[in-house]
Amino acid sequence: MIFHLILLHVLIHFVGFTEGQPDFLGHYCLPDGNFTENSSFKANLDSLLSTLSPNIQENGFYNASQGQNTDQANAIALCRGDVQLDTCHSCVTNATQKLVQDCPTQVSAIGWYDFCMVRYSNSSIVGRVDTRFSLQGRNPTNVSDVDRFNGVLQSLFDNLRGRAAFEGPLRKYATGNTSLTNFQYLYGLVQCTPDLSADQCSNCLIETAQKIINFVNGAEGGRILGASCILRYEVNPFFNQTIQLDVDQPSDGDDNSTTIIVAIVVPVVALILISVSVFLLMRKTRKKKIVEQVETIEDISTVESLQYDFNTISIATDNFDDSNKLGQGGFGAVYKGCLSNGQEIAVKRLAKDSGQGDLEFKNEVLLVAKLQHRNLVRLLGFCLEGTERLLIYEYMPNASLDHFLFDKVKRSQLDWDKRYKIIKGVARGLLYLHEDSRLRIIHRDLKASNVLLDEEMNPKIADFGMARLFVFDETQGNTSRIVGTYGYMAPEYALHGLFSPKSDAFSYGVLVLEIVSGQRNNLFRNGDHLGDLLSHVWKNWRDGTSANVIDPILMSNAASIHELVRCIHIGLLCVQESDVARPTMESVLLMLNSFSLTLPVPSEPAFYMRSGIESEVSLFSEDPVSDSKLINSKLLP
Ligand SMILES: *[C@@H]1O[C@H](CO)[C@@H](O)[C@H](O)[C@H]1NC(C)=O
Ligand SMILES: *[C@@H]1O[C@H](CO)[C@@H](O)[C@H](O)[C@H]1NC(C)=O
Ligand SMILES: *[C@@H]1O[C@H](CO)[C@@H](O)[C@H](O)[C@H]1NC(C)=O
Ligand SMILES: *[C@@H]1O[C@H](CO)[C@@H](O)[C@H](O)[C@H]1NC(C)=O
Ligand SMILES: *[C@@H]1O[C@H](CO)[C@@H](O)[C@H](O)[C@H]1NC(C)=O
Ligand SMILES: *[C@@H]1O[C@H](CO)[C@@H](O)[C@H](O)[C@H]1NC(C)=O
Ligand SMILES: *[C@@H]1O[C@H](CO)[C@@H](O)[C@H](O)[C@H]1NC(C)=O
Ligand SMILES: *[C@@H]1O[C@H](CO)[C@@H](O)[C@H](O)[C@H]1NC(C)=O
Repeated sequence: MIFHLILLHVLIHFVGFTEGQPDFLGHYCLPDGNFTENSSFKANLDSLLSTLSPNIQENGFYNASQGQNTDQANAIALCRGDVQLDTCHSCVTNATQKLVQDCPTQVSAIGWYDFCMVRYSNSSIVGRVDTRFSLQGRNPTNVSDVDRFNGVLQSLFDNLRGRAAFEGPLRKYATGNTSLTNFQYLYGLVQCTPDLSADQCSNCLIETAQKIINFVNGAEGGRILGASCILRYEVNPFFNQTIQLDVDQPSDGDDNSTTIIVAIVVPVVALILISVSVFLLMRKTRKKKIVEQVETIEDISTVESLQYDFNTISIATDNFDDSNKLGQGGFGAVYKGCLSNGQEIAVKRLAKDSGQGDLEFKNEVLLVAKLQHRNLVRLLGFCLEGTERLLIYEYMPNASLDHFLFDKVKRSQLDWDKRYKIIKGVARGLLYLHEDSRLRIIHRDLKASNVLLDEEMNPKIADFGMARLFVFDETQGNTSRIVGTYGYMAPEYALHGLFSPKSDAFSYGVLVLEIVSGQRNNLFRNGDHLGDLLSHVWKNWRDGTSANVIDPILMSNAASIHELVRCIHIGLLCVQESDVARPTMESVLLMLNSFSLTLPVPSEPAFYMRSGIESEVSLFSEDPVSDSKLINSKLLP
């Protein structure tokens, strides 16, 4: 048995590493400008680059800067997580030389080998995600069942992403395998530069995984090498599986034991090596040719076209005059403005110190601006000046849904057809954010005041992607800073900071119930009691008196009652305590569009409230099962 295991190790060593001399895969000389031969920048760069290789740390990473201000040179080097330190040194040395040769005058450049990446720039690199440049490679052999394959690939990358981003701060690297068929495995590798936060790493990998799946389109192997993260997968093991990643700094003890094992095993294994060589020979003959393609650097000009001049915006908003203030949100005030060409805009002036570097902010704006859907408010651009950060959106003349829904007079403008259109439109917008966009955004603060209305009362979701544009101290999927609004927040988010598409589904459910009832969830009146909408709806649903919940002005149109009741049902499914039981936005849309679809029976919603326990007690005290309910319900402090 032990013998068998050792054999396996040796086999893996040979199978995994027979690629010979790794080739230089590619590089970019970035269009950030040129230096002159005798400049002090050039002197700084040269001296900086000579320090890279010798200083590589145990985790295969090194970053450094040299010089001041405009003469400052910045560089990083990163080796693939499974590469031995001596190979790493040599790889970085070679990459540095090659890069300087190929980009003789440029102030910024990036180059990749199989085993390492080197990057330098005249602006700061560390701690920023940059997904503008990448090399993409694809194996020419295609799999037969692309859909299934993509599913397997996606889940492999999801799994690796979680491990790379959140395990061990020193090395953001993970490899793994998953079975593709009974006989075939898929091997994956992901890595981020370790200077990134867990959240940044995770976002980089999400975006790159999406890119690779679109790019490879069913190829048996592929990779994307980016400046901040890399991904690769093959049907053969291409990395060193024996590396111990749970120990960030491999101890001498470990090394000794491996050498000893190998030393003992070598004579025993000699015979087997012959068969291994045969195997390798066969493998060599069908050695994969990775076709490297170069992605165009379109994004740089896009950034410029999205950037507005601070003066322009200041003039457009009358120097942020209070009379132009449309509202104040958690991230800053919003002003109405009018550009000199007559275009109306809404300007969000972010609270000072969003905690992000300029370049990173630009990158995030670029990503969020690419999210375009008819049910999302369009981000037109941004402005950066000193500490000022502005986001410029299209202007929505009809303001937000709450202005109509909760207004005694204006609510009559929202008949059921309009409300139903809003319910569906918001679901479509959310579905796009969750599933269809490249970024998989969780909104985290969906509520009536974040649903804006255009001239035709079409809904457009606002404030999405704010978590990307405003850095919090958090990790993906688990945040210490809650950005939502009490009453709309799923219990797991409000209590533990856990967010997911299912926590958005909860907020959506609350919104649907508000739209049907015309009542605010958190200021809900039931007779003399100040209670919460969810328990009111739940009680009536349970007692078969759903009609009590419906906004009286909607009751005149009897034909729509079945739609209304179905929406209550869907709303209740979305606000269930268990996030697993809540439907995805895709299912919600199916339910809304297909009346023949039988809906599951909802379980009791999550009850919790922010305001005084007294009012909650008085509400529950009418109910014979109040005590157990009160215990079950999660009260916020
Ligand atoms: C980098 O160099 C280019 C060209 O010399 C210059 O335009 C740019 O402002 C520099 N960036 C920084 C951060 O110094
Ligand atoms: C930098 O030099 C390259 C050739 O070495 C040239 O093509 C490019 O236009 C130059 N860029 C600038 C901004 O001068
Ligand atoms: C750079 O310096 C060297 C010697 O100091 C000189 O020969 C050369 O002409 C200079 N080159 C430029 C472009 O100034
Ligand atoms: C690497 O970057 C970090 C963060 O900017 C910095 O604190 C550290 O000093 C850098 N390392 C070196 C060797 O310059
Ligand atoms: C670096 O270059 C040398 C000489 O060309 C070569 O022998 C060595 O294998 C290279 N190292 C790596 C890691 O590519
Ligand atoms: C594999 O798929 C790619 C893109 O879908 C196509 O261009 C290529 O010709 C296919 N290769 C083979 C061998 O079928
Ligand atoms: C898959 O990975 C596990 C470690 O996660 C390893 O023990 C196993 O040998 C691998 N399987 C194959 C077929 O490579
Ligand atoms: C794989 O990693 C182990 C542990 O770090 C090391 O002992 C071994 O030499 C590596 N194998 C190769 C081929 O680099």
